[in-house]
Amino acid sequence: MKKTLFISRDAIAQRVAELAREIARDYGQDKPILIGVLNGSVFFFADLVRALDLPCEIDFVRAASYGMSMDSSGCIRLTKEPEIPLEGRRVLLVEDIVDTGQTISLLIETLRHQNPQELKICVLIDKLERRTQEVPIDYYGFRVEEGFLVGYGLDYAEQYRQLPEIFTLEP
Ligand code: PRP
Repeated sequence: MKKTLFISRDAIAQRVAELAREIARDYGQDKPILIGVLNGSVFFFADLVRALDLPCEIDFVRAASYGMSMDSSGCIRLTKEPEIPLEGRRVLLVEDIVDTGQTISLLIETLRHQNPQELKICVLIDKLERRTQEVPIDYYGFRVEEGFLVGYGLDYAEQYRQLPEIFTLEP
């Protein structure tokens, strides 16, 4: 597999800091619940939350969709639900990437049943080429047309997640 640097460590850090400022400004003292979508969002989530000058709570969900290939299996399972009650709260879902949009759409549909006051989406990479579901993204780090990306939480068959930069991967 050929790995090519796509987004540097510095560019990620700068964008995460910008997003954190934007989010802190929008939420003020409303104490949102930030929900990280495991596993891919762990590094983005940790960096974003620590950059936020904002009272907030954190929780996690796990949505497993892709197996060991580069294509979506089209099958999504919620294997971990949030534990903080979402009713009446402002909730921000934090994802590493929105690709087809299936995972985030399923998450929104599922979490809406808990009657949050508001449910917004923050994603590091908004990738457009394979979108099949229209997704209302409120905050995004980078908008990308195409390519298979790894690093900074993004994996290929569970590999490359630990890389501090984002790379494109080609056969
Ligand atoms: C990845 C990614 C998103 C989802 C995006 O998760 O973290 O959750 O795919 O793809 P979609 O928009 O086409 O649904 P994955 O299921 O691979 O699990 P992971 O977070 O553990 O890598």
